[in-house]
This record gives sequence, C-alpha cells and structure tokens, in this order.
Amino acid sequence: MEIFLDTADPEEIRRWLGYGLLDGVTTNPSIMLKDGGYDMEERAKEISRLVEPRPVSVEVTTNDQAAMLQQARRIASWAANIVVKIPVINEYGEPCLGVVRELEASGIRVNVTACLSFGQAILGAKAGATYVSIFAGRVADEGHDAPALVREVADWLRRWRSPTKIIVGSVREAVNIKDAAVAGAHVITVPPTFLQKFVDHKYSRETVQGFNEDAAKAMVRMEELQALALRAQRQIRP
Ligand code: E4P
Repeated sequence: MEIFLDTADPEEIRRWLGYGLLDGVTTNPSIMLKDGGYDMEERAKEISRLVEPRPVSVEVTTNDQAAMLQQARRIASWAANIVVKIPVINEYGEPCLGVVRELEASGIRVNVTACLSFGQAILGAKAGATYVSIFAGRVADEGHDAPALVREVADWLRRWRSPTKIIVGSVREAVNIKDAAVAGAHVITVPPTFLQKFVDHKYSRETVQGFNEDAAKAMVRMEELQALALRAQRQIRP
C-alpha cells in the first residue's frame, strides 16, 4: 500500500520525505488555501519538484467541462508528475467522466475525486482513471460504512482486473488509516497530523526512555569497574 501526504505544506512534505515514507502527495483547493498555497500554480510546481518522480494530485476549479479540460491540460503541463484531480460530478450533478476519458486518452493521469459511493468509484474506473479517490471521512459523516465501501470497490477492481487504484482520503482519525489498509486500499492519503499520530505511542516513548536510562546506568557502572581495576593494578605494581 502506498502512503500519500494530504497537504500543500512544503515543510511537512520535506519532513515525511526524509523518513522515506512518502509515495506521493494530494492537494485540493481547500488544502491549498489552508496551507497558504494561494498561488496554486507556484505551490503545485514547488511540491512537484520536491517529490518528483512521485505523483502530486492538483485539482481543477471549474464546473464547466470545456474549461475543465483546458484547465486540466494547463495544470498537467506544470510538471510531469502532476496527476489532475477531476470531480466525479460537478456541483450541478453533471458527470465529468468524459473529461476523465479524454485526459487519460491523451496521456494525462487523472484522479477522479470526491467519490462517496460504489457507483461513482467504479464509473471513474470505467472512464479510465488512474486513481479514484474515496472520501472515507465524508462517507462516514453521512452515516455509511467507509471500510465496507473500500472493500467492495477493491473487490470489484480485482475481479475485473482494472488497473485503477483506490486512494482513500478524508481521514478523520488515525484508525481510518488502518481501516483503509485492511479494506484493500491501494493508497491512503493522510494529513501530516494523523501520520504523526499513527507512528506515535506513549508506551513506545516510555520503553525507549527506560532503555536509554538503563544504558546510562550501565555506562556509569562500567566506568566505576574500570576505575576499580586501575586502582587494583596500581596497588599490585612493585
Ligand atoms: C484527498 O484527496 C482529499 O482531497 C481530502 O482527503 C479530502 O478530505 P476532507 O474530506 O477532509 O476535505
């Protein structure tokens, strides 16, 4: 399973890259705004440079499908590792799957985003998307079983040998990472705070602290024994 960072914060990206954990980055307009990426082009280029050749998802920001296609091509031209995020439907409920098919046919990788149902995810895959993003947290917000949905879509993709990968996003709790992994997500995109929570454990800290304290005590004991041995040696010498 791959781990993407759901952020537009270059500092966090550098940090998690340094741990060797990062397989890619996802952004959306709200994340860009939150992380100060007001100039989307400049920030997307910066992130793409930081993580290349890993994929970086950058989203279109229009409802009009002709404009969406144009915008997607422009976004894709910013860097070779950019994957364009196309919403499965626009805000009027019109499917954006024709845009997905056309972009993929021209060699631009697409992440079909804002999928909240089985139908949306498999139609995104049918349209030829490289990724379909299932927003687990929002699925759960609506009272549905997000891990079950991920499992059903993963089974369907496997059964029909679809190359489309599921990205599970919209993480609300660290346990969602485990849920997605167990349900068969190919990728989970995680906000930095939850990745930190996922790796941290109070008892691991205490365990390491105990080992460090004992190592320090052993060092003191060793120095005492060495001093005793030296003194004994001096006393024996004629
Ligand atoms: C990732 O690709 C999504 O844009 C993101 O995880 C959505 O998360 P949210 O539901 O917290 O906005």
